[in-house]
Amino acid sequence: MEFTIKSGNIAKQRSACIVVGVHELRHLSPAARQLDTLSRGYLTTVLKRNDFRGTAGQTLLLHQVPRTVSERILLVGCGREKDLNDTTYQKIIARIAIVLNEAGIKEAVSCLAELDVKGRNLHWKLRQSVEVIHDVLYRFNQLKSKKNDQPVVFNKLTHNVAGTKDAAIGKKAIAEGRAIAKGVELAKNLGNLPSNICTPSYLANEAKTLAKKYRSIKVQVLEEATMKKLKMGSLLSVARGSHELAKLIILHYQGGKKTDKPVALVGKGITFDTGGISIKPAQAMDEMKYDMCGAASVLGTLTTIASLRLPINVVGVIPSAENMPDGNASKPGDIVTSMSGQTIEILNTDAEGRLILCDALTYSERFKPDVVIDIATLTGACVIALGKHASGLLSNYDPLTQNLLEAGKQSCDRAWELPLWEDYQEQLKSNFADMANVGGREAGTITAACFLARFTRKFHWAHLDIAGTAWKTGHHKGATGRPVPLLTQYLINRSK
Ligand code: BES
Ligand code: MN
Ligand code: ZN
Repeated sequence: MEFTIKSGNIAKQRSACIVVGVHELRHLSPAARQLDTLSRGYLTTVLKRNDFRGTAGQTLLLHQVPRTVSERILLVGCGREKDLNDTTYQKIIARIAIVLNEAGIKEAVSCLAELDVKGRNLHWKLRQSVEVIHDVLYRFNQLKSKKNDQPVVFNKLTHNVAGTKDAAIGKKAIAEGRAIAKGVELAKNLGNLPSNICTPSYLANEAKTLAKKYRSIKVQVLEEATMKKLKMGSLLSVARGSHELAKLIILHYQGGKKTDKPVALVGKGITFDTGGISIKPAQAMDEMKYDMCGAASVLGTLTTIASLRLPINVVGVIPSAENMPDGNASKPGDIVTSMSGQTIEILNTDAEGRLILCDALTYSERFKPDVVIDIATLTGACVIALGKHASGLLSNYDPLTQNLLEAGKQSCDRAWELPLWEDYQEQLKSNFADMANVGGREAGTITAACFLARFTRKFHWAHLDIAGTAWKTGHHKGATGRPVPLLTQYLINRSK
C-alpha cells in the first residue's frame, strides 16, 4: 500500500476516485461542497433523493459526476460534526478502504484529512489513516493453497491537504504510520502462525532476520545449557515437558549514544500453552498459539523503531518455550529455584508465563535499564476485567504508568491501570517455598503482577497484560498487533 500527500485544488485532480465526507443530515464537508459547486449542484440533487443521510460509515459511489475530471466520487457519511471522535474517524477510514477495495478501485484521492476530529491534529489523522487501512486490508494467506481468495487491489491513496506546510506534516505522519503498520504486521504474522511452525527456534530465527535487515539491531540467543549455568531454574521448568528447546532471545537496538540507558522490553514467548499437567479444557485451546504475542510485540516494536531510526537504546528480551504435559513435565507441587535465588512452588503448571518472565526480568538487570516493560498474555482474569479494549497495566513507578497511559491514548492502543498494592502479596504465600506461582481465584491479574513485582525491585518496571487485546476471537479470529502502537508511541515520546 502506497500513501502520498498532495496539496492543491481537488477540482483539478485526476483520479479513479475522489473521497469526500458528508455529515449527518446531508451536510456537505468543504471538499464535498467544492465538488458540488463544480458539478452545479449534482451532489445536492443526489442527496435530495433521501437514500444517503451521512450516518457514520455509510457510503455512496457516484460515477461520472458532471464537469469533474475524476472517474468517480465516493461520498462517505461522517455522522454529526460534533460527534466526530477517534472511533468514528477510524470507522470511516476502515469503510472507505473496504468499499474501494471491493469495487476494484486501485487508487484514490482522499479529502478526509480536513475532517474535524475532536482533540486530534493533522498528524494524528493521517498517521491513523495509514494504520487503519493497513489493518483492514491485512490478510493471512501464507498457509492457504489458493492464496488469492480475496485479493487486495486497492493499493494507493493520496491525501489531499491544504498547503505546503500541511504537506510537510503529512509526509512525516505517513512515514510514522507506515513504520508502525510494518511492526504491527510482523506481530500479527507471528501471532497467527500455528505453533507447529512458530516454535521458540522460529522466534529466534526471526530475531536473527531482523538483525540482518537492520544494522542498528544485534541479536544473541541463549540455549538451555547457558540458561542452566545462569541458574534460570524457573524458566527451564516450563520447557521440561516439550520437545521444543527453550530459547532466551536478546536483541539490542542502538539508536542513541552508547552510554544512554536502555529501555528493556521483555515479551512472553510461550509458543503454545496447553497448561501443562494442569491441562486446559479443549474449548478454544487453539488460541493458545497466541501466547507468544508479547514476544511478537517486542519484535514488531523493534522493527518499527529501527525503521524510524529513533535516537534511543532499547533491549528486547524474549524468553520462549512451549508448555506441554509429558513424563518430564513439571508437576503441581514441584519447587524450583529462580535465577534471583527465590524459590517457587508451582501449584499450577498453567501459570507458566510468570515462571519464564521472572528469570528474564532478573536477567534484564545486567543492562542497567532506565525502565523495564514486560508484555504478556498473562491472565484470563484480565480478559474478564477489561475485555478487548484495554491492556492491563501495573507498575512500581507512577511516572512510567502515566507515560504509558498517555501513549496509549495518543496511539488509540489504550491501557488501564490496576492496583499493585502490597495487600495482595499475601495471596502468594506458600507453605513450602518462598512463594507460590498462583494466588487463588480473586484478583488474578493483580496477583500475577505481584508475583513479577518480586523480581523487579531493583528497577522501574511496568507490566502490560495483553491477554484481552493481543488477538480477536470468533468470526474475525486473528492477531491485532497490539500493543506495538502503544510501545512505539511511548518510545517516540521518550526520544523527544
Ligand atoms: N496464557 C494464559 C492466559 C490466557 C488465558 C490468556 C486465556 C488469554 C486467554 C496463562 O498462561 C494462563 O494459563 N493463566 C492462568 C493463570 C491461572 C492458572 C492462575 C489463567 O489465566 O487461567
Ligand atoms: Mn497458562
Ligand atoms: Zn500462558
